[in-house]
Amino acid sequence: MIEIERDGAVQRIRMNRPDKKNALTGEMYSALAEALEQRDADIRAHLLCGVPGSFTAGNDIADFLAMAGTVGIQDAPVVRFLRALATCEIPIVAAVNGLAIGVGTTMLFHCDMVFASERALFRTPFLDLGLVPEAGASLLAPRVMGHARAFELLCLGEPFDAARALSAGFINHVVAEEEVEARALAAARAIAAKPAEAMRLSRALLWGERADLRARMEEEIRLFAERLASKEARAAFTAFMDRSRGSD
Ligand code: COA
Repeated sequence: MIEIERDGAVQRIRMNRPDKKNALTGEMYSALAEALEQRDADIRAHLLCGVPGSFTAGNDIADFLAMAGTVGIQDAPVVRFLRALATCEIPIVAAVNGLAIGVGTTMLFHCDMVFASERALFRTPFLDLGLVPEAGASLLAPRVMGHARAFELLCLGEPFDAARALSAGFINHVVAEEEVEARALAAARAIAAKPAEAMRLSRALLWGERADLRARMEEEIRLFAERLASKEARAAFTAFMDRSRGSD
C-alpha cells in the first residue's frame, strides 16, 4: 500500500490503496515514516505521490474509531509520521492528482514543492469530525496564506480547488493531469542534482528554527487525542462508517 522506488537520487514514495481512496492506516503511516527517516546519503529528494484521483483521503476513519478507545496517541504510527515530516532534512516534492483530504492537505505544508493537477481538491474536515487541525497546520497555514484563508480551510473545512490553492500559496504549479507526476519528478531530479550540502544548509535556513513548529505539533497531538475520544468525534466516525456500510 506504500510503494517505495528509487529513481537515481530521488526516492519515490507512493500511497497506493485506491479502493479506499488512499485512506492511511497505521501500517501505511509506519512505512511512510520509515521512508522519510532514511539517512541514506544517496537519497537527495523525496517524491510523494498517490494514484490518479486520490493523493489521500486522509486518516482511515476506522482507525480513528479504534484509536478513540486507546489511551494517548504519542506512540501511534501517525505521530511518528508527522514527526518524521517535520524533521526531514531532505527536500520533499509532492504530486497531487485528485483528493487531498485531512492529512493529505496538511502534509503538504511540510513539502518544499507541490505540483497539482486541475482535478486536485484540498479539504480538511477536522471540525466536522469533532477534531482539531494537525501536522502543525494551525501554525503553518496562517503563515502561508494569512488567518482569513487558513480559517476557511482549517476551521470551516472549505474545499480549495487547485486554482485557489495556488493563489493561497501552498502549491507551486497547476499542470495537466497526465503531466503532474512527470513534472514533480523532474523538479525532484533537479533538486537532487544540486550540491547536496549547499541544498541542506539553504533549505534549513528557509525553514528557520523549527522549535515553535515542534511545540505546536505536540500541542495539537495532545488536543487531537482528547478530541478523538469525544462524543462529537465518535458520532462523526460512526456516521461515516455506517454510511459506507450502507452503500454495500
Ligand atoms: N477512511 C476510511 N475509509 C475511507 C476513507 C477514510 N478516510 N475515505 C474513503 N474511504 C473509503 C469509503 O469508506 C469507501 O469504502 P467502501 O467502498 O468499502 O464503502 C471507499 O473508500 C470509497 O469512498 P467513497 O466515499 O465511496 O468515495 P467518494 O468518491 O464518494 O468520496 C471521499 C470520497 C474521500 C470524499 C469520501 O470517502 C470521504 O469523505 N472520506 C472521508 C474523508 C475524511 O474525512 N478523512 C479524514 C480527514 S481528518
